[in-house]
Amino acid sequence: MKTITVSAPGKLLLIGDHAVVYNRPCLVTAVDQRMWVSVSVTAQQDLELKAKDLAISRYKKEIKALGTGDIPKGATFVEIAVKNYIEKFPFQGGVSVETTSEFSSTVGFGSSSAATVCVLKALSEATGNTLDNDSLFKLAYKTVLDIQGVGSGFDIAAAIYGGVLYFVGGGKVIEPLAVSTMPLIVGYSGKKGDTPTIVKAVAEKIKTNPGIYESIFDTSTACVEEGKKALLSGGFVRFGELMNIAEGLLAGLGVETLQLAAMNYAARNAGAYGAKLSGAGGGDCMIALVPYDRSNDIEKAITQAGGTVIPVKTNAQGVRVEA
Ligand code: MEV
Repeated sequence: MKTITVSAPGKLLLIGDHAVVYNRPCLVTAVDQRMWVSVSVTAQQDLELKAKDLAISRYKKEIKALGTGDIPKGATFVEIAVKNYIEKFPFQGGVSVETTSEFSSTVGFGSSSAATVCVLKALSEATGNTLDNDSLFKLAYKTVLDIQGVGSGFDIAAAIYGGVLYFVGGGKVIEPLAVSTMPLIVGYSGKKGDTPTIVKAVAEKIKTNPGIYESIFDTSTACVEEGKKALLSGGFVRFGELMNIAEGLLAGLGVETLQLAAMNYAARNAGAYGAKLSGAGGGDCMIALVPYDRSNDIEKAITQAGGTVIPVKTNAQGVRVEA
């Protein structure tokens, strides 16, 4: 029984949060904290899962029952990924999966998407099917939509391709950008944001004033297009300014929290080029783009504002087979 181990990076959304759900572009970077998944094909007709970071010590389900009945929250993405894989590429036997993560599932680095990508990639290796990045994206994105019903897929793309991407909602464009490491500081707000709930709340809000929200998304698109140019030319001062504008738009969508705002202002006052929440909002993390010589002061300011600094490097490699 051969075990395949695959890893994939977490992600941080740089600019374009929420707008990307509405077929707009965003900029995303993969980060060097990774999800690891080991998969083996077994003789039993079961899925067996160990995921200690998701509080699953041992979960077992018959292959033919996948997707039915009660599924513990921490097992959902793995179970539906295995189900979708077997529906597309049927094989005899069962699957044993073990996941370990270098980042907590509470910080909003995309643990579910990274785990989904890893499971599908490892299964394809274990069963001898070649899944190119495009097919892997489609199957992983279907898995996320089957579970959440909403989502742009940018986190799936980051887990697969790595690096810094220009991404248009649903994967209509996935363009790797030649960007060097970004001087980014990440501050965790101490509260987990519930992405699907927040995305659905924003969708409800849009119905009340469609034209106004449309213009928020138009401005977000302009920030992403300008931000892409700035990143490609190393224009961090310009990019920081665009991040600040983007935060204003997210406040307009109502997804900024007082805690995130306090951390953003603290970072800016301590010399950051720009600071904004990253992802759905309602909690999770903020990011600050900083001059290298101000990093310590900015980290201290974020901590004093109640945040926890998480050290990350941007531009990490995408999904890879480790063993
Ligand atoms: C959540 O991390 C980012 C959102 O734009 C949702 C998505 O793109 O799937 C709010």
